Amino acid sequence: MTNPAVSIEQIVNLAKRRGFIFPTAEIYGGYGGFWDWGPLGVKLKENIKHAWWGDFVLEWDDVVGLDGAIITNPRVWEVSGHTKNFIDAMVECTKCHHRFKADEVKADCPDCGGQMMAARNFNTMFKTAVGPVEASAATAFLRPETAQNIFVNFDLVRDTMRLKVPFGIAQIGKAFRNEITPGNFIFRSREFEQMEIEYFVQPDQADKYYREFVEASHQWFIKLGIKAEHLRQRPHKKSELSHYSAATTDVEYAFPIEKGWAELMGIANRADYDLRQHGQAARGDERAFAVPIDETGKIKEVPYVIEPSMGIDRAALAFLLDAYEVVKGGRTTTTESIKEEEVVLHLHPKLAPYTAAVLPLSKKPNLEKAAHAIAQTLRPHWSVDYDAAGSIGKRYRRQDEIGTPFCITVDFDTLEGVKRPLGTVTIRDRDTMKQENVPIESLVDYFRAKLG
Ligand code: GAP
Repeated sequence: MTNPAVSIEQIVNLAKRRGFIFPTAEIYGGYGGFWDWGPLGVKLKENIKHAWWGDFVLEWDDVVGLDGAIITNPRVWEVSGHTKNFIDAMVECTKCHHRFKADEVKADCPDCGGQMMAARNFNTMFKTAVGPVEASAATAFLRPETAQNIFVNFDLVRDTMRLKVPFGIAQIGKAFRNEITPGNFIFRSREFEQMEIEYFVQPDQADKYYREFVEASHQWFIKLGIKAEHLRQRPHKKSELSHYSAATTDVEYAFPIEKGWAELMGIANRADYDLRQHGQAARGDERAFAVPIDETGKIKEVPYVIEPSMGIDRAALAFLLDAYEVVKGGRTTTTESIKEEEVVLHLHPKLAPYTAAVLPLSKKPNLEKAAHAIAQTLRPHWSVDYDAAGSIGKRYRRQDEIGTPFCITVDFDTLEGVKRPLGTVTIRDRDTMKQENVPIESLVDYFRAKLG
């Protein structure tokens, strides 16, 4: 199944046209697998992170945060197994020399029909050199996952925060992978952001927490507006598990891409793999990170870890796809919009770049002054746009297209109170287009009641 109502190209166009996401350094032709986030994209991404941090870190009394280094000691990647195992099988065309992931090519080259060379392994970690001498001893890596920062800080975080298993460490940050075939816009890129939790548990509790995190992650997307029928859970077969994983379930989204259902995020039971590896390598004892698991403190075990791992970019793509609606002929019969195509982005209010837009009916100075004052009253609480350019119908459509849930219109009745009580504005709901009159002094309470 795919979400047939919308294509990736429609989202690419909207993202560029309205300032969400641009090809990186577009003036030089872009750069494969890298993207720049524009003003509205920054807001969308911040809102996704904020919602996740609130629901999975702040609301839990045993999850704390970390912000580790993107480039860390290269030993980390040797010990974690990434130097050896973080590889993709790659095939190359003998004629045009284009490269593909081996599992994406059945026979001849998809680009020129040429014969393919035998598959070889390719490590997808980006290399860099640290310090002024580019000798091999200076080789370091850009982290391909945020998780390892958490494992190597396990003892420091546990001790400084006086934590007892079960507890979690959460991190949001950039990750880098030299993907052989980046593609489908931000679905698979070479630089992206991850939100990960490593939740350390007693080994006999691992399965319980694994199931709970799968369910909580799945429900989180539904809570933020993704249609339930566009989401499913897919447990991995043994043969496809990552080198560290005892069990993994993907939450998949019905992406409109060739293969349809595809991984939105993964939840893994990494067992005690990482802590044992680092225990052995750093402390000479694979049980170095064992912690008390009963009340007496005598029985010690290396904790198991459950890892919900999500790419923010991929989540943003799913939120945009699921929110996107094209209305042929427009939604109103009273403006020139009839027979045009209108786009409405039904983003959840918590994710929308702007919660509200303030629109003075005209550019008359007294209307603009009142409208600016309203925007300033709301800005300490929510992200608020101000737009005075163009007809009111066009301005509504501009806001619908970027997902602004509420438009506040300031008109002559706001100042003169002829058809409506003095000091009121009209608030238009993006999805229903219904309008309500609300006194200016009640606006903060009105939005608090609507948004929580
Ligand atoms: N620490 C575990 C881990 O990194 P993963 O399945 O390789 O697991 C987790 O990645 C998530 O990161 C994926 O579900 C996806 O959302 C995101 N992700 C991975 N590679 C990506 C890429 N090249 N571009 C965008 N997002 C990516």
